[in-house]
Amino acid sequence: MVSAAPSRAPAPRIIDGRAIAARLIQTVAAEVHDHAAACGVAPGLAVVLVGEDPASLVYVRRKIAETRRAGMRSIEHRLTAATSEAELLALIDALNGDPGVNGILVQLPLPAHIDAGKVLDAIDPMKDVDGFHPVNVGRLSTGTGGLIPCTPLGCMMLLDTVIDDFRGLNAVVIGKSNIVGKPVALLLLERECTVTVTHILTRGLAGIVRGADILVAAAGSPGLVRGDWVKPGAVVIDVGINRIEAAGGKHRLVGDVAYEEMAHAGAITPVPGGVGPMTIACLLANTARAARNQQDGR
Ligand code: GUN
Repeated sequence: MVSAAPSRAPAPRIIDGRAIAARLIQTVAAEVHDHAAACGVAPGLAVVLVGEDPASLVYVRRKIAETRRAGMRSIEHRLTAATSEAELLALIDALNGDPGVNGILVQLPLPAHIDAGKVLDAIDPMKDVDGFHPVNVGRLSTGTGGLIPCTPLGCMMLLDTVIDDFRGLNAVVIGKSNIVGKPVALLLLERECTVTVTHILTRGLAGIVRGADILVAAAGSPGLVRGDWVKPGAVVIDVGINRIEAAGGKHRLVGDVAYEEMAHAGAITPVPGGVGPMTIACLLANTARAARNQQDGR
């Protein structure tokens, strides 16, 4: 846990996700360069977007741009919202069999007529850079390797910049999603934290959060966590990215944590500029890792 100096007015250490992500991307770019020199071709990431969900379009554009900036090949498949499940499964099958594709990402959510579970199950676990395939979920739960979901991996990298020894710390996760809540809880457990997984319907949520040395807020509820929920010195990772209306008909992004009430926290991630940039950096790191694993025949 980070402790504030007693004589100064409390101010949390700001965990700069943009800077940490930029350093990770530099490392990945160097690895990509070496991979291309050894194999004659840079790692390739296939991104599949079905439909026109505006938030997904923004995320996918960013993922593609950063993939290219890191020196990797970006293979894009933009399909209409009318694409059938069978057509999408046929595309996944082709990507699985294409040696030029090292990573496959199907942007979620998918249109309602497509069974997302079926689609994720169809991705070759070796190419599953999201870490959503049951094989990788199983590996994570048994602590036996595999590709780890990007946002939880990014959360752990951010925590590593402020915590040396996780053993025995109380970690509270708010959110039980397959994308963030469940996998980040498993990663914290792997570090020997005492982990409590909560969600928006948890009774006595504030009281549980008050016991946290580490708080990961991934509820998707703007400003849910108030200042008096967080104990002095706690490390707060805010995964929430909520677009709310601001003055003058404008919008702004806020997290799940009431940031301006967190002066007593030991360290905190801002929104934007905290967890968000790490998700894409970890996607690139996972793609480089998948390419390495495939090259090594693992
Ligand atoms: N939609 C929201 N977050 C994610 C993510 O991490 N991966 C994919 N594939 N879709 C998402």
